[in-house]
Amino acid sequence: NFKGALFDLDGVIVDTAKFHFLAWNRLAKELGFTFTEHHNERLKGVSRVHSLEILLDIGRISLSEEKKQLLAELKNKWYVEYITDMDANEILPGAKEYLMQLRNNGIKIALGSASKNAPMILENLKITELFDVIIDGNSTSKAKPDPEVFLLGAEKLGLAPEECIVFEDAAAGVEAGKLAGMRVVGIGSTDVLKQADYVITGLFELVG
Ligand code: G6P
Ligand code: MG
Repeated sequence: NFKGALFDLDGVIVDTAKFHFLAWNRLAKELGFTFTEHHNERLKGVSRVHSLEILLDIGRISLSEEKKQLLAELKNKWYVEYITDMDANEILPGAKEYLMQLRNNGIKIALGSASKNAPMILENLKITELFDVIIDGNSTSKAKPDPEVFLLGAEKLGLAPEECIVFEDAAAGVEAGKLAGMRVVGIGSTDVLKQADYVITGLFELVG
């Protein structure tokens, strides 16, 4: 009963969340404070610059815009190093199979990610062709929980929001999907993804 599916990338299709965490953790260490997995939940789905602002807030550090720009670039440099030799083995269980299953059933597919690294990741995983539309951190200006990324995705697919379903692992992303007027499947734990219409532990649950 949906015509289009919009997928977040990090934590839904590929397990890059751990590398984002490693890079933020390393940055916090350099700045002299500890950044935990618990803190990291707040960063999931959030744009690079906004993530840095949350991180600095946790460490009670305030910096100039210039310095922030440099730190965001440094974090990304580390992150890109971590993911550079990532290949199709890093695709989360069932993700590729589910995308193919939807395509076979005539469902249109869009990526709705905050990441500017999304095109490179899809290429490394060799799954770019599975998407009809790609919306990422390069094509959006408002970060999740703003619904922009998903509204743009639906529009490019030629579908109305109510014809679309969103797959998200981040609280900010689930909120964005709901604000876009779409049904949302949360991937992860119900504690974190309270607003989702339905919660699963991974896309493998939907392959059949
Ligand atoms: C995703 C991740 C975030 C990340 C953001 C920006 O939403 O869940 O952890 O900060 O993308 O990614 P980027 O690759 O552009 O730094
Ligand atoms: Mg995510």
